[in-house]
Amino acid sequence: MAPSSNNRIGRYDLITPMIPCKDEIMEKFEKFLMSGHYILGKEVDALEKDLAQQCGVAEAVGVASGSSALFLALAMAGVRPGDEVITTPYTFDATIEAIILLDAMPVLVDIRSEDLNIDPAAIEAAITDKTRALMPVPIFGAPCDMDQINAIAEKHNLQVVVDMAQGFGTLYQGRPMGSFGRMSTLSFYPTKNLPGIGDGGMVLCSNTEDAQRIRKIRGHQPVRMNNHLYTGWNSRLDEIQAMVLNVRLARFAGEQHDRIQVAAIYDSCIPQANRLQDPNPGSGNHVTYHQYWVRTNRRNELQKLLDDSGVDTAVYYNPPLNHHELSEYCRVSGELAEAERAGREVLILPIHAALPFDDARKVGNIVGNFLAADAAAAGS
Ligand SMILES: Cc1ncc(COP(=O)(O)O)c(C=O)c1O
Repeated sequence: MAPSSNNRIGRYDLITPMIPCKDEIMEKFEKFLMSGHYILGKEVDALEKDLAQQCGVAEAVGVASGSSALFLALAMAGVRPGDEVITTPYTFDATIEAIILLDAMPVLVDIRSEDLNIDPAAIEAAITDKTRALMPVPIFGAPCDMDQINAIAEKHNLQVVVDMAQGFGTLYQGRPMGSFGRMSTLSFYPTKNLPGIGDGGMVLCSNTEDAQRIRKIRGHQPVRMNNHLYTGWNSRLDEIQAMVLNVRLARFAGEQHDRIQVAAIYDSCIPQANRLQDPNPGSGNHVTYHQYWVRTNRRNELQKLLDDSGVDTAVYYNPPLNHHELSEYCRVSGELAEAERAGREVLILPIHAALPFDDARKVGNIVGNFLAADAAAAGS
């Protein structure tokens, strides 16, 4: 771990983890450049095989981005114009964009306060005869309650597509999150835990038929399914991204270990009520901490204190997607009280594989002292 720096503590460091990979990437790049095999070569093939194996699925198909992956997965899960897809309002815009691009309707239901993930108890009331699919999003790398979600899907004959853009490496009950849906999608955007140096994504497929169809569509071949002819288009994962991702994948476990250490430092400073809580402790859930969040109803004061102390933070997702311009294409089911509260209270702290532990202790102490003073004032 690098020594503590005197500069600001940033939310991301995309360069330091790249330093030990640089020579290998440059060497591979030179060979690639002179190979003439620029599209869907051996790097994409190797990455697909490794990720399928690590995520516990039949096949993985590399595509242009996490957004493309969502669009293709939903389309191949049979989502058609006029259908409804039940999902969370507490997520990045791309989750609902993919549904809307298919002329289907996102149906937004509330989240749980403990892990900020879709609340399975809110799903059933949102189901109508138009519902085609459920789309959970393991937000910030915390697993969704897949037993309950899959039981509802089975009971109502619905498809499950998991938006795993933030959840590579996340385990639910000891099993990779990506193995619980009919399909799951990854993003390799440079700030993700498994990062590319540009855009990229992957569809994880539980069955080979879906994978074959997506392979066709990403390469301009039409697909006929359920009496509908789907057009092909270009949504291929770039060979250069796959090359970098293969190098980074070999270091993923080590980098993840450092993130977990940072999260443990924060956990030791921050009371349980103000941070992620595993709703099913001891059941083999594993959080990858794509982001580490803390909540307080004095969020803006805490953010200013950290900023004045040289610490960068962020506010996600405020307001939640039921207030987004695109919400005119959505239906809201029930109260979204917890999503609204998360939007008002959650603050994202710095976490990445190169964050010096001394910096994490500094951040953790500032937050811990702020919350302790707040609790003391509330008690007095
Ligand atoms: C939850 C979620 N879904 C989808 C995406 C879209 O991924 P991409 O940027 O690779 O298109 C992101 C990316 O930030 C995301 O966080």
